[in-house]
Formats: sequence, structure tokens, C-alpha cells
Amino acid sequence: MEEKRDPALEEAIRKAEEAKKAADAKKAAEEAANPFYVAPNQDSEIKNVIGIVSGKGGVGKSTVTAALAVALKRKGYKVGILDADITGPSIPKMFGVKQIGGIVGEQMLPAQSASGIQIMSVNLLMEEEEAPVIWRGPAIAGIVKQFWSDVIWGELDYLLVDMPPGTGDVPLTVFQSLPVTGILLVTSPQSLVEMVVKKAYNMAEQMNIPVLGVIENFSYVVCPDCGKKIYVFGENTLKGWSEKSGVKVVERLPMDSAVAELADEGRMEALDPGYLYDAADTITELTQK
Ligand SMILES: Nc1ncnc2c1ncn2[C@@H]1O[C@H](COP(=O)(O)OP(=O)(O)O)[C@@H](O)[C@H]1O
Ligand SMILES: [Mg+2]
Ligand SMILES: [Zn+2]
Repeated sequence: MEEKRDPALEEAIRKAEEAKKAADAKKAAEEAANPFYVAPNQDSEIKNVIGIVSGKGGVGKSTVTAALAVALKRKGYKVGILDADITGPSIPKMFGVKQIGGIVGEQMLPAQSASGIQIMSVNLLMEEEEAPVIWRGPAIAGIVKQFWSDVIWGELDYLLVDMPPGTGDVPLTVFQSLPVTGILLVTSPQSLVEMVVKKAYNMAEQMNIPVLGVIENFSYVVCPDCGKKIYVFGENTLKGWSEKSGVKVVERLPMDSAVAELADEGRMEALDPGYLYDAADTITELTQK
């Protein structure tokens, strides 16, 4: 017996199938055009990948990554941190997390911070005896790719990637293989701004990755007596470069021992509200879809 189907429904189904085919074809073409493409985990749905980049180490890149994750989370977004600083991982300690969320076959669940930030780092695998062996062997750039393809991130609005300093193999791999929405540069006023920032900036430019802005860390100290901001290295160290390049300085952070203490104690989520809110706003404005 022939079943009668609603022609409007048939048409809707046909249209949906066509749209899916077109989307698949577009994706396949994009993948074919990029030989470095790495497929995301099939159970991950990540809207924006933001690289946190600095020209050199010690400028507070990881601290900024962690604080920005806290700010975005407080604003109601689903946030993850991929710790791509494989040889100097520092994100887990800042959140007081020690273990991954679990192992599913050959894949892993990230750790979860107290407020629900998803975190993946090699630090979390050191003691993980049952981790699939492939996780312990591969070259550094390969680990970063696996953090993308073999970690079940779930649904995220923002995945922040804490890059190792400089413009070496790992940033190159991340820029080539992950769909980076944009990068944030972190600098300190005494780090030969023009030269060091420019190098990271140029790399992103060459690879067609938008630079969302610059965060200047260690920008000033606040006088404990009168609350005045004292710009030890001058108030406008980035101004010239910012005007020339068109890259906005989205936030300037004080040198503040409380931040270092919270990081040390694994309590980044207890940061003062307001910390990096301007940077978080800039990111959400520039990445609205
Ligand atoms: N704004 C700040 N005020 C005080 N200490 C800071 C600040 N930012 C970073 N630090 C401290 O400086 C050190 C280096 O910061 P980190 O984020 O690890 O730098 P990077 O990731 O660039 O190497 C850490 O001990 C950190 O706690
Ligand atoms: Mg770091
Ligand atoms: Zn004073």
C-alpha cells in the first residue's frame, strides 16, 4: 500500500537535504584547500577559537588567558582553555585542577574548573597512567593538534588557546590547522614593544588571521595611599605602534601582587570582578556571529 505524504513536507525535506549537501561540499572544498587541516572532534562544537599570543615569555600571557576565561565565563559564555604551551604549561595550576575529566576510548574529556571552564593541558596527562599511549609520544605540535581533534570539548562559545611565547612551531601549527577566529596580543611595556609585538603581529597578518587587539600587562602600579595610577614605563608605550597598525589597545593591566597570589593558589576564579571585562567585551563584539 502506497503511503500518501504531504507534498509540502516532502519539499521541505528535499530542500534540507540539498542545503546539507551544499554545506558538506563547501566544507570539503575548504579542507582540500588547506593541507594542514585537522578535523575538530566530532563531539565538539566550538564557535570561536581565540589565540593568546606574545612575542616573548614572562609578559603574563597565561595569566591573561586565565583571567579572560574567567571574565567571559562570568558574562555567561561557555569557555574552554587549550594550553598550547606544551613545554611550559601553567593553566591547570592557576585553576587548581589536576586531572582530566575522563577517558572515552581514544579520546579525552577536559578538566573542569570550579566555575565550569573546560581545560586541557599536558600537565593533566603527566600522572594519567591510563591515557592512550598515543598521547604520551607525539611531537609537540602533534599534541596541540590532538588537543583539537581528540578532546571532547562539547559546546563552546570561546576556546582560548594559550600559545607558547614567540613565533615558533606551535603558533604556526595552531594558525595553520585550527580555525582561529582571531588573536589577542599580550605585551609588557618594557618588552621592546615595537620589535617583539610586530613580529607576532606580522605572522598573524601573513596567515590572514585577524588581530583583535593588544593587552598591555604590567602597565602601571596603583599607589596604595591615594589610588593614583603610576605608569612606571611611561603612559603611552604602545600608542605609536597602535596608531600605525590600527590594532586597538583593549585593556591595560596593573602590576598587582593579588593576581600572582591567586594564580599561585589556583584561585583565578576569585579575581576581582571587572578584571579584563573590556577585553572580553571587545572579543564578543568582534566575534559576534
Ligand atoms: N598583572 C600582574 N601582576 C602581578 N603579577 C603578574 C601579573 N601578570 C602576571 N604576573 C605574574 O608574572 C609571572 C609570569 O606570568 P605568566 O602569565 O606565567 O607569563 P607568560 O605566560 O607570558 O610566560 C607569573 O608569576 C604571574 O603570576
Ligand atoms: Mg605561560
Ligand atoms: Zn599616592
